[in-house]
Amino acid sequence: MKKDQWIMGIETSCDETAVAIIKNGREIASNVVASQIESHKRFGGVVPEIASRHHVEQMTIVLEEAVNQAGITLGDLDAIAVTSGPGLVGALLVGVNAAKAISFAHAIPLLGVHHIAGHIYANRLVTEMKFPLLSLVVSGGHTELVLMKEHGHFEVIGETRDDAAGEAYDKVARTLNLPYPGGPHIDRLAHEGVPSINLPRAWLEEGSYDFSFSGLKSAVINTVHNAEQRGETIKPEDLAASFQASVIDVLVTKTLKAVKEFKVEQVLLAGGVAANKGLRAALSEAFKELQGVDLVIPPLSLCTDNAAMIAAAGSILFEKGQRSNLALNGNPGLELSIHN
Ligand code: KG4
Ligand code: ZN
Repeated sequence: MKKDQWIMGIETSCDETAVAIIKNGREIASNVVASQIESHKRFGGVVPEIASRHHVEQMTIVLEEAVNQAGITLGDLDAIAVTSGPGLVGALLVGVNAAKAISFAHAIPLLGVHHIAGHIYANRLVTEMKFPLLSLVVSGGHTELVLMKEHGHFEVIGETRDDAAGEAYDKVARTLNLPYPGGPHIDRLAHEGVPSINLPRAWLEEGSYDFSFSGLKSAVINTVHNAEQRGETIKPEDLAASFQASVIDVLVTKTLKAVKEFKVEQVLLAGGVAANKGLRAALSEAFKELQGVDLVIPPLSLCTDNAAMIAAAGSILFEKGQRSNLALNGNPGLELSIHN
């Protein structure tokens, strides 16, 4: 009988300290996430120094819990995968050093994983991947359309030229005095309002799969300020609904266009904004018309930052024989296209 394969994932690129263990590349044995949101909330965003300090405090606790929940010991691990970038450098270093220590102490391979590769591979914990596929990655730091023709091969066909979708959500939420992170609050409000306010959609040049959300964000801020100056009130629900409609319209339209152009078999939704109810519903609706293309939408717990996705991406590197060495470092600007 083939021996089970155990891979640990560690994720500390932003404000979640996460450790997970997966079995045979696709089964989650444990997936522990310690969120720091409460500590950053009063600053309206993530404070890098606070994030690093929390990671240091939480790392061994989360690690122990992940091992206990999986019912194995560190000695059972076949490899250790860790997010090596992009992200906050001080935060990344905590995870990278924890992974290096385990790799060295237990003489197991170290696998540096790109955070976005992790978000995409969260989908492999849901279903097997079918190539060619397209992934719509929408997170706090990234908005990208990624074409994959095989495992570990990432071609970015479109990306944001300014704000990421999640960043726009968080900034608009701030304008509406909603707590950080604002995405879920805007999402909730949007369902209580009507998209009655005319807001721009940045389609960019003909044929471009790039995105731009800063104009939309500024339009929302201007709408609020102009109304204040005129002494008018705008219903925040309607503004949230109008903003969300604009974001979703662009994301869904560009995704569908790319699906047709690149004749993909599967579309994977990935990243924190993939938790958005409006986006999930709009994509599901749009895909009803497309024959022969599977749409995969991971459960909410696998959309936002977690370490199971890092272990899942790491298992592919492990299978391919790709290894990092102990010189692995946190790289805030790590490129996805060169990571294969
Ligand atoms: O992927 P993620 O957990 O962290 C990054 O890698 O950036 O994404 C976090 C982002 C935040 O901007 C948050 O506001 C957004 O995901 N988000 C949402 C929703 N839930 C989280 N945005 C829109 N609607 C949601 N329901
Ligand atoms: Zn993320």
